Amino acid sequence: MDRYAVFGNPIGQSKSPFIHSQFALQCKQLMQYEAILAPADGFADSWRDFVASGGKGGNVTVPFKEQAYQLAEVLSARAQQAGAVNTLYLNTAGQLCGDNTDGIGLVADLKRLGVSLAGCTVLLLGAGGASRGAIGPLLDAGVRQLVLANRTFSKAQTIAASFDSRVVGCGLTDIPQQAYPLIINATSSGLTGSRPEIAATYLKDCQLAYDMVYGAQPTTFMQWAKQQGVPQQADGLGMLLAQAAAAFTIWRGVTPDIEPVMALLKKQLAV
Ligand code: ATR
Repeated sequence: MDRYAVFGNPIGQSKSPFIHSQFALQCKQLMQYEAILAPADGFADSWRDFVASGGKGGNVTVPFKEQAYQLAEVLSARAQQAGAVNTLYLNTAGQLCGDNTDGIGLVADLKRLGVSLAGCTVLLLGAGGASRGAIGPLLDAGVRQLVLANRTFSKAQTIAASFDSRVVGCGLTDIPQQAYPLIINATSSGLTGSRPEIAATYLKDCQLAYDMVYGAQPTTFMQWAKQQGVPQQADGLGMLLAQAAAAFTIWRGVTPDIEPVMALLKKQLAV
């Protein structure tokens, strides 16, 4: 049976084995998907062991996305732009290929939520790996201007400089005052129950407040946006599913429907 796995540290919390098992059932794919805890400094060895024992492909999560990027022999344009790899597979020549489906997962989820990205002005909060991976696919989807605001200004500035003039970097306290119909929280603040400290005035024209983090309850950022009158809020569960579906398509050549798996995951989170 074809073997796939997600590599991370920690990994016990990962929903990927459940998601890919559900996709395999739905798409009638004979495959197995497991979670592998790789040592913090031993991702490359873990991956090589996995391939030596018949592994066909994998997902990579925190903290190994940059190490996977270094390891891959062939990088997709998306992975190069993100500087990180979340999907690995072997091509027919046996080369290790690295792709990044996080950003296209975000774009797919925004489309699912009814957002029209063409011509849109977006405020993206945070300048870590999650944020960097999202920028290229958002621009490819037609975003007109992307303001990248980060607590540490220099990080936003460095990332913005690696894109064209559509991307503007700033700190959280000097965000240009303009209408932002879409605000995306790509900071990890939700993991500690906080939110990026931006002024409520930036939410005035916001139609959707999107948080890449997800959980049983709406995140602090989503709750705050709702209090401020933003009509729609969403967490990152749909993005998680859409990046997984894109990886599954790369490996298996079939695209699963994320909706039934999302319903199951929501039930699990509610318990
Ligand atoms: P990831 O890979 O999830 O993006 P990361 O690379 O560690 O994680 O980046 C975390 C991001 O969340 C950073 O942009 C960080 O801001 P700094 O660069 O200033 O550290 C941001 N972040 C985390 N907690 C935050 C908080 N409470 N308020 C604002 N930004 C926060």
